[in-house]
Amino acid sequence: MKRLLILCGLMWTMSASFAQVRTEKFIKNWEFSRDKQEWKKVSVPHDWAIDGPFDKKWDMQVVAIEQNGEKEKSEKTGRSGALPWIGEGFYRTTVHIGKTEKAELLFDGAMSEPVVYVNGKEAGRWAYGYNAFRVDITPFLKVGDNQIEVDLKNVEQSSRWYPGGGLYRPVTLILKNRTSIRDWGTYMRTIDANTQWAKLSVDTQVDGVEQGGNLAVEVSIMNPKGYVEIAGHSGVKADGLVHLDMEMKKPQLWSPESPFLYKMVTRLYRDNQVIDEQVQNVGIRTLAYSKEKGFQLNGVSRKFKGVCLHHDLGPLGAAVNKAALIRQAKILKDMGCDAIRTAHNMPSAMQMEVYDSLGMMVMAESFDMWIYPKCKNGYARFFKEWSDKDIENLVRHHRNHPSLVMWSIGNEIPEQWSEEGVNISKRLQDICHRLDPSRPVTQGMDRVESALKSGFAQVMDVPGFNYRVHKYDKSISQLPVGFLLGSETASTVSSRGVYKFPVKVSNRATYPDGQCTGYDTEYCSWSNLPEADFYMQDERPWLIGQFVWTGFDYLGEPTPYDGYWPSRSSYFGICDLAGLPKDRYYLYRSIWNTEEHTIHLLPHWTWKDRKGKVTPVYCYTDYPSAELFVNGKSQGRLTKKSTLQPSSSTSEKALNEELLDRYRLRWNDVKYEAGELKVVVYDKDGKQAGEEVLKTAGAPVAMKLVADRKDISADGEDLAYVTVSLVDANGVEIPDASDSLCFEVEGTGTFKAACNGDATSLEPFTQPQMKLFSGKLVVVVQSTQQKGNIKLTVKDQDNKKIPYGTITIASC
Ligand code: GAL
Repeated sequence: MKRLLILCGLMWTMSASFAQVRTEKFIKNWEFSRDKQEWKKVSVPHDWAIDGPFDKKWDMQVVAIEQNGEKEKSEKTGRSGALPWIGEGFYRTTVHIGKTEKAELLFDGAMSEPVVYVNGKEAGRWAYGYNAFRVDITPFLKVGDNQIEVDLKNVEQSSRWYPGGGLYRPVTLILKNRTSIRDWGTYMRTIDANTQWAKLSVDTQVDGVEQGGNLAVEVSIMNPKGYVEIAGHSGVKADGLVHLDMEMKKPQLWSPESPFLYKMVTRLYRDNQVIDEQVQNVGIRTLAYSKEKGFQLNGVSRKFKGVCLHHDLGPLGAAVNKAALIRQAKILKDMGCDAIRTAHNMPSAMQMEVYDSLGMMVMAESFDMWIYPKCKNGYARFFKEWSDKDIENLVRHHRNHPSLVMWSIGNEIPEQWSEEGVNISKRLQDICHRLDPSRPVTQGMDRVESALKSGFAQVMDVPGFNYRVHKYDKSISQLPVGFLLGSETASTVSSRGVYKFPVKVSNRATYPDGQCTGYDTEYCSWSNLPEADFYMQDERPWLIGQFVWTGFDYLGEPTPYDGYWPSRSSYFGICDLAGLPKDRYYLYRSIWNTEEHTIHLLPHWTWKDRKGKVTPVYCYTDYPSAELFVNGKSQGRLTKKSTLQPSSSTSEKALNEELLDRYRLRWNDVKYEAGELKVVVYDKDGKQAGEEVLKTAGAPVAMKLVADRKDISADGEDLAYVTVSLVDANGVEIPDASDSLCFEVEGTGTFKAACNGDATSLEPFTQPQMKLFSGKLVVVVQSTQQKGNIKLTVKDQDNKKIPYGTITIASC
C-alpha cells in the first residue's frame, strides 16, 4: 500500500466528507462532599484522603497476617496508610450536552463501589475500585444541563495497602453517533514482524448497524510525521464486526530502548461520510515465550529487569498525574529497569500511555484475592459476581498498548493448592486468551509446592513465583513450559540514608526508631537479599527475569513495622516515597544499566560519634574491582568474587556472604575518620576507570534546591519536583540534617505537596512545611493555566542563619 501524506487530516484513501463525529473530553470540575451537606470544588483526578491527617485510628486492623507467617492477631496500625480513606464520598457536576445520539461516561477507576447517577437516576455501577468501566448515559440525558453524581464507598479492612478514595483517575465524557465504533472495540495486534516487514491484524466492532446506510471502516496507520504507512478498509456486516489484515514494509519496532509509536486512525463511514473516528497510539513488536529462548521481544531473548509498583504516587496519593508517572518511569529507566508489574491491580490508562511512549514493558495485574479473603472485606466479596467482567474490562481497555507484554490474573491467591483454584485459573486465563490471543497470562505464586502439586502452576502460560529463589531449581522440571518468572523478588527493606551498626545480614531486624538499615542487608522471613535474585538470574537460562518488590515505596504495609506506630508506609522501595533513590538503587543500576557506569559509595561520611569505630564501606559499581582510601590511606583493593558457586550444603549465612561479595565491594573493617572517603575503580583489564569521593560535611550555611525540570506546561496539571538539602561552605550536603522547612510558592504555580521519605513521619504531605529526613526532602510544585514563572522559596524554621533558598521554574 502507498505512503500518503495526510494534509490537515483531509486526504484519505477513501474520499469522504465529515458529518458530526465523536467528541471525548475529561470532566475535571467537580464538587465533592463526605456527607452531601457541605460541598467543595475539586479537580479530578482527586484523592479525598491524602490531606490526612495521619492517624492510626482510621483503619486499625487487629489481624494475623497469614502471609507473614503470623498465628496470633495483633494491632496493625499503618497497614493501609493511616489516612482517612474509609467511608463514603460523593462527587457531582453539571455538564451541558446538546443534541446527541449517544453518550457514555468512561471511568478509568473510582475508589470504590461507584454508583453513577444522571439527573437523579441510577445509570450504572461497578464494584472494584481499580478497574475502568463505561456507563451508557444516553437514556438519562436531556438537552441542556445534566447533573451527574457519583457515590463512592470504602469499607474498613478491604485493603492490604493504601487504596486512596474518590475519583482518583479521569472521567471522560464521550458523545457519538448511534452508529459508531464501540469503545474498546478496536483491537490491533502484531501477528509477525521484523525490521523489513510486519503483518498486523485489526478487529473493530461497530454498534448501531441496524440504523442502516452503506457502512465501511477504514484503518490507517500513520508514523509520527503524519504519513500513512498503511491503510485498509472493509464493509461492515450485520453483526458489526470488521476484520482487516495489513502488511507494512520496514516497520519501526517498539521496544523499551526505542519506543516507536504509530497512530492508528479508525474511521467509520456511512455512505462515504465519516460518522466516527478513533485515534490511538499503537506499536509494532513481537512477543514470544519458549523453553529454548525464554522471553523474546522482537526475536531477541532478554530477561525482565522489572519492578513492582503499587498505584499511589507517594505524596500525591492515589490521584493519577502524568508528570508524576513520567518522573517515576524516568528514574526507574535510568536504573536500567525495563518492566513494571502493576501490583496488584489494573493500571491507569495514563500510566500505560506513559509506558508506551517512554518504553517500559508492563505486566498488567488484576486481583490480590479471589474467593478466599486475605483481608476481611477485600475483593473476595465481589469475586464470584464480578471477576469475569473485571478481567474482560482490563483486557479490552488495555490490549492495544505495545508496552503490555503479559496479563496477570492474581497475586498469591490462597486457592493455590486446590482444584477450585486450578479451574478459576483456567477460566480467567481463557478470558484473556479469547479477548487477546497475542499475550500470555501469568500470576504470582507463593505456595510453590502446593501450586505444583495441585497443577495450579502448570496451568499458566508464564508460571510466576514470588520469592523462594531456593525453590526454583527443584520446581523447573515440573513446569511443562520449561521457564519461570520471578514475578516478585527481594523485598529487601531499607530507609534512605539511615545506617545501623554493627552491620548484620538479618531477616527480621527492627529498631526503636522505626527505620531499617541503608546497608541493604535486611529482608523479611519470606524474602531475600537482591543478590540471591541476581545470582539465579545470571546462572539459570530458564529464568526469564524478575520484578523486584518494589521500585518506589508506597503508602501502607510498613513491614517490618506493621505493628509499630507511627510507621505508615513501606520500606521495600528501591526509591523512597518521595522518589529519592536509596543506596539500593545503585546496586540495581550497577547490574541493570548496561549503558552507563555506576560508582556509588555508602554510608555517608559525616558521623559525629563514630571516630575510630568500625564503619563498613560498600561500593556499588559495575566495575569488577576497586581500592578504597580514607584520608588518602588505602583500605585495600577488592575484586568481586564472581567464581563462587554456592552449593546445597552452604548455610544461609555463608551463602549470603558469598552472594554479597559477588555483587558488592565491601570493606567491612574500615574505621571512621572525618575527612575524605575515596574509591578508585578498575576495569576488567585492571585499568583505572574512575573514582567517587564522599566528604565529611561541616556546618550548614546554605540551602540547595534542584528541580527535576526547568520548565513545565502551563496546563494546571504539570509538576516540578524540587529536591531540597542543606550544604556546608564547600557545597557538601549535610546527610543527617532534620531541620524543619517551610515553603512558599509565588507566580503562576501552586504548592502541591512535600515528602521526605520518612516512613514514620506524620507531617501531612499537603501542608507547606516539613522536616528534612536524612538531609533531604522533595517539594512538588504545580503549574496553573497561566504562563509565567513559578518561584519556590524554602525557609529553614530551625536555624535562622541559613538564608532562604529559592528556585524559579518557567511555566510555558
Ligand atoms: C508479597 C505480596 C506483596 C507484599 C510483599 C511484601 O508476598 O505479594 O503484596 O505484601 O509480599 O514483601
